[in-house]
Amino acid sequence: MPKQWARKSRLAVGLMSGTSMDGIDAALVRLSGTAERPRVQLLAFVSRPYPSAIRQRLMRVAGGGPTTSGEISELNFLLGELFADAVHKVCRRGGVSAERLAVIGSHGQTIFHQGQPEPTARKRSGQPVPSPTVSRASTLQIAEPAVIAEKIGAPVVADFRTADIAAGGQGAPLVPLVDYLLLRDARRGTVALNIGGIANFTVIPANARPEEVFGFDTGPGNMVIDGLVRHFSLGRKTYDASGCWAARGHVIDPLLAEILRFPFFQRKPPKSAGREQFGRHFVGRFFLKRRGARLEDLLRTATELTARSIADALDRFVLASVSVHRLIVSGGGAHNRLLVRRLKELLPRLSVCLSDRFGLPVDAKEAIAFAVLADRTIHGLPGNLPSVTGARKSVVLGTLTRP
Ligand SMILES: Nc1ncnc2c1ncn2[C@@H]1O[C@H](COP(=O)(O)OP(=O)(O)O)[C@@H](O)[C@H]1O
Ligand SMILES: [Mg+2]
Repeated sequence: MPKQWARKSRLAVGLMSGTSMDGIDAALVRLSGTAERPRVQLLAFVSRPYPSAIRQRLMRVAGGGPTTSGEISELNFLLGELFADAVHKVCRRGGVSAERLAVIGSHGQTIFHQGQPEPTARKRSGQPVPSPTVSRASTLQIAEPAVIAEKIGAPVVADFRTADIAAGGQGAPLVPLVDYLLLRDARRGTVALNIGGIANFTVIPANARPEEVFGFDTGPGNMVIDGLVRHFSLGRKTYDASGCWAARGHVIDPLLAEILRFPFFQRKPPKSAGREQFGRHFVGRFFLKRRGARLEDLLRTATELTARSIADALDRFVLASVSVHRLIVSGGGAHNRLLVRRLKELLPRLSVCLSDRFGLPVDAKEAIAFAVLADRTIHGLPGNLPSVTGARKSVVLGTLTRP
């Protein structure tokens, strides 16, 4: 489709479920302007928690636990239905009939991601990867797009990460191009920080060209905090609301120092992380072995680990070469008051604010990004930034399923 056709305003839904596996986020947006320089207005947003039995199965499968190809195939179709339900819900909330959608961009649920060939990944992270037989870079997101397209009656773009990996990239992160499109500033250097299960940055120097943008994962976002809460509440709770629990504890300094020596934090970007690095094994190895430690102290230490690893990564790998004025925070971790307070304290020279201020509510931002990326795909525009993912070239992302 010629690019100039994209000028008229169009409706799109973005669907996202990240490494937290808390549930499906759906954002209904109106896009206007060209696909190359879109303007985005959020019309409605819903977040649909996974039923706990499904979350447990996904955690097991994504955590390298026992499964079968039959189970993965079944989950793929089951999630397709849940993702389609989320589209219906968000359209109802926005007062829009779902068949009017120009496109749905569905990230799906990652159940495996290895951005680099295994020997490199293993050497660099300093940790064994769960499946020693896997040697090449690969990625797998599920939530069958054919099910979504059939149930909704609109075209679906999915499997965003594969084309970047095929082009030699890490397949992640993909949101940086959207950050560039929506948050760049002519005079002020900007860092967009998303605190999901994993925390990651997009660095956008003042007046940057796309190839000057870079980004990487800084380490755990909520993943370690959530893991501790789940363990100690025997699965009854899944996160530390507002960081209140951690706020009652003290940092265990020797433990924090030991973890910050972990090779991942020292390594230069580009780098990406997931449940493979900071999931169950990590929580068990560093936190659960400390007999007698109080839960609130462990949580306080996990929260400090997130804040410190973010601030250290900025100091080490960003502020030395780029002048940064503001840090725009999004993701579920933006609700953790203790975490945001610590970021402000550790980065006193930056103006720290939430993405809501830019029309991108913290919970909706990543889902919005996949609506924008899908719009690019159907207009034949690339969606990755080689400077971020390490791909040999920019490529059009995703597969298109027509209803
Ligand atoms: N009110 C809150 N207080 C503290 N943490 C929260 C709150 N709401 C959500 N979170 C955290 O955010 C996580 C979900 O964030 P999200 O951005 O959806 O991550 P992901 O992209 O990995 O799914 C939850 O697992 C939880 O740790
Ligand atoms: Mg989530």
